[in-house]
Amino acid sequence: MYHILHKEQLAEKVFLMKIQAPLIAQERRAGQFVIIQPDTDFGERIPLTIADADVTAGTITLIFQAVGKTTTDLSAMQTGDPVANVLGPLGNPTHIANFGHVVCVAGGIGAAPMFPIAQALKQAGNSLTLIIGARSRELVILEERMRSIADNLIICTDDGSYGRKALVTEPLEELCSGADKPDKVFAIGPPVMMKFCAATTKPYQVPTMVSLNTIMVDGTGMCGGCRVTVNGETRFTCVDGPEFDGHQVDFENMLARLGSYRPQEQDALHKCRI
Ligand code: FES
Repeated sequence: MYHILHKEQLAEKVFLMKIQAPLIAQERRAGQFVIIQPDTDFGERIPLTIADADVTAGTITLIFQAVGKTTTDLSAMQTGDPVANVLGPLGNPTHIANFGHVVCVAGGIGAAPMFPIAQALKQAGNSLTLIIGARSRELVILEERMRSIADNLIICTDDGSYGRKALVTEPLEELCSGADKPDKVFAIGPPVMMKFCAATTKPYQVPTMVSLNTIMVDGTGMCGGCRVTVNGETRFTCVDGPEFDGHQVDFENMLARLGSYRPQEQDALHKCRI
């Protein structure tokens, strides 16, 4: 059993949990994820990126938004509760190197998986620009932690309640067309945001990695549930990713597949609320 050792709410429907998982804490590297199953009775398995880990304490940190049945169930669990299954670390770690000037774009809850990657990129000697996007001020998470590692932090909100009133693609385009053009971009967030980040950097030929948050079941390459099309070929997000060249990803296909089970997801969420 994996017990919840700490729980806190970071924003509306956004929660941080530290879970006892010493072996995963030891092995994990930036960019990897776990598949979590809160309970075994008909429990769904969902992928969550490891936002942080403490090898000494034997814990991993997960940050998630309560949007569906499983994340809502998880958000209702308390410190001390056991989580039935935590499988990982899964996926390929992020390729970390000194690229030069790196821009990391994090949208909404995407700040959670972005933080360990940005931290590793900074430690590798990169000049780091971080762009955080959120719908409003209340939904900006991990700002102080991001500020502590960034050479340049740009915050954008859709409603202008904090930082710049803009989509993240606006400052991204300014950077790409400016004197200090990025050598590499990482984008993590809603699929539509990643799609438009990749579309923004493509004309400037700035290599852009995106971390794909597809539906997953086994997480080991057997079920095919996480398949995406990259450069015209079928790839599995769990074992070939989760990061791919954003300029090669077929986002339309991915978005269509993400919506495949929407009626069932809404039905399950409705039932867990009544
Ligand atoms: Fe089953 Fe990737 S989750 S193949």
